[in-house]
Amino acid sequence: MIEDENQRKINIREVQPADLERCFEIETISYSGDEAASKEKILKRIRTYPEGFVVLELADEVIGFINSGATHQVELSDEEFKELIGHDPDGKHIVIMSVVVHPEHQRRGFASQLMKRFTAKMKEAGKTDIYLICQTGLIDMYASHGFSYLGKSDSDHGGLSWHEMVLTL
Ligand SMILES: CC(C)(COP(=O)(O)OP(=O)(O)OC[C@H]1O[C@@H](n2cnc3c(N)ncnc32)[C@H](O)[C@@H]1OP(=O)(O)O)[C@@H](O)C(=O)NCCC(=O)NCCS
Repeated sequence: MIEDENQRKINIREVQPADLERCFEIETISYSGDEAASKEKILKRIRTYPEGFVVLELADEVIGFINSGATHQVELSDEEFKELIGHDPDGKHIVIMSVVVHPEHQRRGFASQLMKRFTAKMKEAGKTDIYLICQTGLIDMYASHGFSYLGKSDSDHGGLSWHEMVLTL
């Protein structure tokens, strides 16, 4: 069992339908304005591809998660993919939609733990690579997990500028 510095239990597991409200709360509080996914989008991700949706529990409360879709052809600026249009669970390429940790628990290594478990899970599932887009300030964080920089993204998601990155599994 993994514990934090206060001996609180840490558990990383696949999402369940009952996690919807808490995941929506974390998404809304952590992403600004338009960037946050709606409750309907999160529900769709839970229902459609739970295998690509992991949550981190601290002392039995969900405090962060990573969700994604799978595809045969990656198109990172495709807004419809965020609603899993074009998703196929057999696709070898994974596209991450959200990496998020509740603000009260940030900068304590939880995103790193989620990312390690998520990448291991996708490797076990036979996926070949993981793609994501991120803002400039997080390029180094993803590089520290082995992601390579692909270039600036065409996406203007949430009215912001984004960069594309990939991790080969
Ligand atoms: C980005 C986010 C998931 C990081 O979660 P976290 O649990 O705080 O991250 P970790 O503690 O695992 O951070 C590991 C390292 O990543 C880097 N890092 C983490 N958050 C960072 C930030 N906001 N800016 C720059 N670097 C950051 C740091 O190097 C950090 O190590 P340090 O704390 O020893 O300096 C969290 O800040 C978040 O939910 N933000 C809002 C949603 C978001 O923007 N998600 C990213 C979408 S691409």
